[in-house]
Amino acid sequence: MDRRGFLQQSAGVVAGVAVSGALPSAIASAANAPGMASGVLVAPDAVLNQRYPFTLPPLPYAANAVEPAVDAQTMGIHHDRHHAAYVTNLNTALASQSALHQYTLGELLMGLRRWPAPVQTAIRNNGGGHANHALFWNLLAPGAASAAAPTGRLAEMITRDFESVAALKAAMKTAAVGQFGSGWAWLVKTATNRLAVRGLPNQDSPLLEGELPIVGIDVWEHAYYLKYQNRRADYVDALLARINWDVAGAQVG
Ligand SMILES: [Fe+2]
Repeated sequence: MDRRGFLQQSAGVVAGVAVSGALPSAIASAANAPGMASGVLVAPDAVLNQRYPFTLPPLPYAANAVEPAVDAQTMGIHHDRHHAAYVTNLNTALASQSALHQYTLGELLMGLRRWPAPVQTAIRNNGGGHANHALFWNLLAPGAASAAAPTGRLAEMITRDFESVAALKAAMKTAAVGQFGSGWAWLVKTATNRLAVRGLPNQDSPLLEGELPIVGIDVWEHAYYLKYQNRRADYVDALLARINWDVAGAQVG
């Protein structure tokens, strides 16, 4: 299923759940927004379409493929232990929630307020962690595969909403460096089809508020501390120089 199909189906499924709590109106709007992706199936979408039991996809490249921005040891621990733990913990939390096994990861995140209270935190933290990291690996350009600059629709939207790629990167850096504690800096597409930068805590996915994640910068210390220690700004600079803009572009269509 492509991203448009995923969102349209998700909005319909989640909207049809008769429980309390307001579905973010942005979901329906986002699903119908012009310019949505069509026919591009990238790995993050496959993870968003997973249902219980959830599985950890392999890294899409060797652990040292994004050096020197991300060292191999950090990459390996980050994927094999941290991302894996989110998947394991999500499965553990949902094992007894058979009524939720019919829903995809994307639906579980977008409909968070509708699920039983005891599992909301687990879905938010571990489901978010699974979705966020699945996108993150694909957003890092291995070796010579780095896409030098945004193109197509994403480039047009960046020019419209930020004036330049440099200004967008500056906003992303400000959000990433300024995020207190653990969290992510996100470039998202809003319900009104605009680009915006968000700083979100912990593993909160932009999908919780019906916004589409386009680029995410993981600023948990587990993402950078072995190499950069307290120099988060240096890590953010290195990552922003290694964004695979082709993958980012596939998120907006
Ligand atoms: Fe992480």
